[in-house]
Amino acid sequence: MRTKKYVLTEKDMPRQWYNIMADMPNGMEPPLHPGTGQPCGPQDLEPIFPMNLIEQEVSTQRWIDIPEEVLDKLAIWRPSPLFRAYGLEKALGTPARIYYKNEGVSPAGSHKPNTAIAQAYYNKVAGTKRITTETGAGQWGSSLAMCCAFFGIECKVFMVKISYNQKPYRRLMMETWGAKCTASPSNETAAGRSILEKTPDSPGSLGMAISEAVEVAVSDKDTKYALGSVLNHVMIHQSIIGLEAQKQMQMAGDYPDVIIGSAGGGSNFAGLAMPFARDKIEGKQIDIIAVEPTSCPTLTRGPFAYDFGDTVQMTPLLPMHSLGHNFVPAPIHAGGLRYHGMAPIVSQLVLDGIIRPMAVHQMETFNAGVTFARSEGYISAPECNHAVAATIREALKAKEEGKEKVILFNWSGHGLVDLGAYENFFRGKLSDHELPQSEIDAALKDLESLPKPRQAKK
Ligand SMILES: Cc1ncc(COP(=O)(O)O)c(C=O)c1O
Repeated sequence: MRTKKYVLTEKDMPRQWYNIMADMPNGMEPPLHPGTGQPCGPQDLEPIFPMNLIEQEVSTQRWIDIPEEVLDKLAIWRPSPLFRAYGLEKALGTPARIYYKNEGVSPAGSHKPNTAIAQAYYNKVAGTKRITTETGAGQWGSSLAMCCAFFGIECKVFMVKISYNQKPYRRLMMETWGAKCTASPSNETAAGRSILEKTPDSPGSLGMAISEAVEVAVSDKDTKYALGSVLNHVMIHQSIIGLEAQKQMQMAGDYPDVIIGSAGGGSNFAGLAMPFARDKIEGKQIDIIAVEPTSCPTLTRGPFAYDFGDTVQMTPLLPMHSLGHNFVPAPIHAGGLRYHGMAPIVSQLVLDGIIRPMAVHQMETFNAGVTFARSEGYISAPECNHAVAATIREALKAKEEGKEKVILFNWSGHGLVDLGAYENFFRGKLSDHELPQSEIDAALKDLESLPKPRQAKK
């Protein structure tokens, strides 16, 4: 019988995370203080994050030990299996060999617990009593809720209003794991109230929910804020995906020509891709593709600029591809991809030519998800369907070219709590959204007065 999945045991689990900041060909530009515009020191971040995570955020150490307590919890769902997608290959009639890393096996159903567990642990060690956060689709909020429960930390989640209404079951997952969840923008914070005053019907955005969560964290010394993507320490924690995948590809006797991940803030993509990107920096030929929605085209249409991570301009200025902190994406179902910015690490590597961005329309992603479900069985989260769609594009290109390409993609999460989105798709209620350039230009006006990164393209 042919091998369908490549499985590692706890013994094979990586004991260190990989930090690509040690190997970036052009380095990284520093975050800037939102008030002074000067590079942020660790102490500037201290009201928001515990110092042990700030140290990781600025670390250029290549390998970082994973604490035993974190490994112990990661072992609930890790190592995650790597599958060969024979069914999808057959459905497409492609000569490509397709592999996917299944991150949907975690209790929350996605890759997000990989960093939630580390962040909850480091906060516990630092004495944090309560953590606030934002969530888009609810994948991150539910993951943090679970991990806070493991370490006895209170958890408060501001959930983007459109998702709060679209995805009631994620809310209930958070409640089951003991977190409090509020629709954002809310009346609970000054940031939320100021947004509601201007736009009472706002569907919310990740940028707005971040403003609310940060505001609550900075106003109480025992409360810290946690972010589920974008930041360097999150990319580091997610590197366990790629490190396992490297071992599993070796077991399969293959090496990827193409690596694909969906990109909202960049964490599942970076988690899989970064250990392989190191090989690329050292000379390997790999096409590394970050896939985003055409309705929130941060990498494909946003400039590399300094911008705030949130709408109300409380966070440090990050060097990243951005559509502007006031950009509110269309309410597509991939809530976790509706973010105006992108991880500085991913943004920099796009600038360096290591990563190739791609944008796909919503309808293509759902069609891809249905093809995948009918050939591989698993029903993907709408975010993850972006990676599936790009994989299908690449596999069909390989067919056209008659090439036996090896494609590896990150199956970042299941969609069993997102079936409402599938229902809308089947009933003809979804459509593609063309984002006019005028809308992007208007949102980018907010960046004009901000400092410019050294490496910004003219
Ligand atoms: C299943 C899934 N995939 C992908 C993403 C996108 O986030 P990131 O780019 O940080 O991986 C999300 C975010 O919520 C998600 O839930």
